[in-house]
Amino acid sequence: MGQDADLSGSDRDPVVCRCEAVRVGDLLGARDAWAIDSLRQLKLLTRAGMGICQGRVCGPLLEALARGWGWDPTGALASRPPARPWPMQLARGTDEGGRADER
Ligand code: FES
Repeated sequence: MGQDADLSGSDRDPVVCRCEAVRVGDLLGARDAWAIDSLRQLKLLTRAGMGICQGRVCGPLLEALARGWGWDPTGALASRPPARPWPMQLARGTDEGGRADER
């Protein structure tokens, strides 16, 4: 971990996540300051990958950084939509046997 260059505050600190304006220096700083050891924790703390594109642009770069730090990025950037399918029979009335009303 200590072998990374200190890029924080530098003009050469590249942006990783454009949606949330997160730079490599932000990720390194959060990783070291909070002793983070997973991409999911880093994502939650820095918001990298949580912007409007939901990590479609920065996801591969974040995963590459995580692999370089020895982390397993599997599933860390999986999108979690705020809605899910709703069974239609719950929207209609049902009798005690669970059958839908025949109206
Ligand atoms: S570039 Fe990171 S969420 Fe869009």
